[in-house]
Amino acid sequence: MKVCCIGAGYVGGPTCAVMALKCPDIVITLVDKSSERIAQWNSDKLPIYEPGLDEVVKKCRNVNLFFSTDIETAIKEADLIFISVNTPTKTCGNGKGRAADLKYVESAARMIAEIAQSNKIVVEKSTVPVRAAESIMHILRANQKPGIHYDILSNPEFLAEGTAINDLLNADRVLIGGEETTEGHEAVAKLSWIYEHWIPKQNILTTNTWSSELSKLAANAFLAQRISSINSLSAVCEATGADVSEVARAVGLDSRIGSKFLQASVGFGGSCFQKDILNLIYICENLNLPEVAAYWQQVIDMNDYQKRRFSQKIIESLFNTVSDKRIAILGFAFKKNTGDTRETAAITVCQTLLEEGAKLDIYDPKVEPEQIIDDLTHPSVTESPENVKKAVQIHSDPYSAVRATHALVICTEWDEFVDLDFQRIYQSMMKPAYIFDGRKILDHERLHQIGFHVQTIGKKYQRSGLLRSWGIVPQL
Ligand code: NAD
Ligand code: UDX
Repeated sequence: MKVCCIGAGYVGGPTCAVMALKCPDIVITLVDKSSERIAQWNSDKLPIYEPGLDEVVKKCRNVNLFFSTDIETAIKEADLIFISVNTPTKTCGNGKGRAADLKYVESAARMIAEIAQSNKIVVEKSTVPVRAAESIMHILRANQKPGIHYDILSNPEFLAEGTAINDLLNADRVLIGGEETTEGHEAVAKLSWIYEHWIPKQNILTTNTWSSELSKLAANAFLAQRISSINSLSAVCEATGADVSEVARAVGLDSRIGSKFLQASVGFGGSCFQKDILNLIYICENLNLPEVAAYWQQVIDMNDYQKRRFSQKIIESLFNTVSDKRIAILGFAFKKNTGDTRETAAITVCQTLLEEGAKLDIYDPKVEPEQIIDDLTHPSVTESPENVKKAVQIHSDPYSAVRATHALVICTEWDEFVDLDFQRIYQSMMKPAYIFDGRKILDHERLHQIGFHVQTIGKKYQRSGLLRSWGIVPQL
């Protein structure tokens, strides 16, 4: 069997790499319209950082895994084609700011229709709105050449960045949605056969196409909802003296609830949660289900509130002004073990501090400096990119980032931050020295002993006499 995957990104890359590793009898060609991305996939420095990915790619590349810009040949030769292109939120027109933009999916479908000379199984790997498969089928059938048959399957991807290889190797489940016809069942069986090379058959779930498409949006909505739920309670904890970690543990030990995804934080980021929930909201609005739309909107609103609340807490703690103060930002990626910054909470934190006149010293072990500058000078973040460039310095080492700063803010839970020499950091910072732990990863007791003023999420504010005398901290 020959497989082609259109879209060599965070999903297409790791998915095809693992498939190639586990299916030596299948030839997989991963294509992309970006020649730069393909060149990176063919080089020693892959375009994305993902633990374990380098090893898998090195093992399979040019054996049964190929990276190419020759989309035409790959489509022509393939029996099965994954569409794994990006489906971002629309930025203009109908559904702006909510609906998924399907222009890349549509263009992939049109390429297939134009190029195909034999039967193809077309698999939606991208996350799409419910009934998107119908649109793909419409495009394919409207341009169908005589004697060519298409089957469309939905096969959403559940991997998380930072753990993608493990998630792919040990998937909880693989979901395949198809048409309830004989041809549909045959197509499902062919795709299932690929996964059966390494996934136990009982973990391969088959449903109708629409259930499969909706399940992907539902899974992300449920996961994000848990984070917003615990983050909402973190505000209650800060106001009452309860500790959100203790609450999460107590709640999560109920086996009906479970302990995962209850880590309170500065807010969820990443390219999926917000986009997919907005997509679900848009679908609900169009189906005239305003109550359902409003329900899911709250998950996003709570996340925005959490990001704002944390940023405001930094300003208030620093005597209500950060103007011309140096603040170190440790971590810029949306989570650890990735260099991805899409929708990262760090952008909101930096944006708020920059608007208040702060100077930022930023360090992240995997995010490229140009990416940080691009994110912070984006028109949606600032109207004066030149001022931002002057106010931001990117560091290649955390100790240089914290030197002579008034505060240190943890935005990403990188393991290496836990083991930093905080005694050394304290000595190099301005006094009073503040730490704002947006990820709850540090040993706060020890930091207090060193002399830091520590603020975190979901634990009562440590009121110092100094702050009370400034009249900034409200009494309960
Ligand atoms: P990405 O932006 O990293 O990669 C998409 C790639 O598709 C880009 O390299 C782009 O150049 C390419 N592309 C777009 N149109 C093309 C075309 N017509 N021909 C050839 N190449 C084209 O996106 P991603 O993060 O890999 O996400 C892909 C899809 O998977 C999205 O629908 C996303 O919602 C979904 N998804 C993402 C994740 C994740 O963790 N990133 C997880 C599950 C599902
Ligand atoms: C998510 C889904 O987990 C995955 O199944 C889907 O395929 C794509 O979207 P991803 O966005 O890569 O994956 O990472 P995830 O681990 O879900 O984290 C998303 C955000 O939530 C991160 O910013 C993370 O730090 C945050 N998070 C996660 C919390 O704040 N608390 C938690 O308990 C878990």
